[in-house]
Amino acid sequence: MSYNLLKGKKGIIFGALDEKSIAWRTALRCHEEGAQLVLSNAPVALRMGEINKLAEAVHAPVIGADVTNMEDLKKLFEESMKHFGGGIDFILHSIGMSLNVRKGKHYTELDYGFNQKTLDISAVSLHRVLRTAWDMDALNEYGSVVALTYIAAQRVFPDYNEMADAKTLLEGITRSFGYHYAIKKKVRINTVSQSPTRTTAGSGVKGFDGFISYAEKMSPLGNATGDQCADYCVTLFSDLTRMVTMQNLFHDGGFSFTGVTEAVINQMEK
Ligand SMILES: NC(=O)c1ccc[n+]([C@@H]2O[C@H](COP(=O)([O-])OP(=O)(O)OC[C@H]3O[C@@H](n4cnc5c(N)ncnc54)[C@H](O)[C@@H]3O)[C@@H](O)[C@H]2O)c1
Repeated sequence: MSYNLLKGKKGIIFGALDEKSIAWRTALRCHEEGAQLVLSNAPVALRMGEINKLAEAVHAPVIGADVTNMEDLKKLFEESMKHFGGGIDFILHSIGMSLNVRKGKHYTELDYGFNQKTLDISAVSLHRVLRTAWDMDALNEYGSVVALTYIAAQRVFPDYNEMADAKTLLEGITRSFGYHYAIKKKVRINTVSQSPTRTTAGSGVKGFDGFISYAEKMSPLGNATGDQCADYCVTLFSDLTRMVTMQNLFHDGGFSFTGVTEAVINQMEK
């Protein structure tokens, strides 16, 4: 159902790889709510070609950008503003990648070269995106930026490995840049801390099946799906949340505030 919450708004969506991606689900919902979109992903992801299906469905151009490359970002913002004929109202940062996890490195034996790259792609990239928008004055007043995160930033989930540190940094940048951008232009910046979700990035976490069913049992409402995350992002891009900024917002069916559930106790007593 559409509420026209984003009618007339223009946004850039980073990170739609395939139809399971949270960014893909969010692009569909934003389109339904009346937004005009530009889709972006790393050139290597664009070569898969999947994103063209989404582009067609939401009538959006696809502009490649490696988020660790300032030239790419500048070009993306220039072309997006040209396409929209003006400023940008919202941005979804839905990007994450761990090189050490990919290479099977345990947290206690990190390769620091890989670690730098992980932090750059998964966290500092948010700063790079905001900095580019700031320098070009690309975001409209009351613009909204949302980045996706995970509760491993607050609590230990050992197999989340170096991504836990990346998410902690991402949430820090959200607060710090959120302060400056609110003062400069009333732009709000928040992270959404999502339940484990079956996507390419999510499934990269070791023992993901056990992990997702544990979270399901530990969440009074159950795990939040990608589509439900998309709904939540729409509200944050809308004018209904204009005074929300610098927050880490849990979207996890109650997992973050639950000590234990009957379902987990029953499992332990077996
Ligand atoms: N799936 C989960 O369980 C879960 C839970 C909480 C938070 N998140 C977060 O949600 C976000 C989206 O992940 P997803 O689960 O939809 O998986 P996904 O694999 O579909 O999306 C990750 C995206 O990051 C992009 N990316 C990687 N390197 C890039 C680069 N250098 N430049 C530009 N883009 C790059 C990929 O191409 C991909 O589109 C991530 O930040 C992830 O950490 C996921």
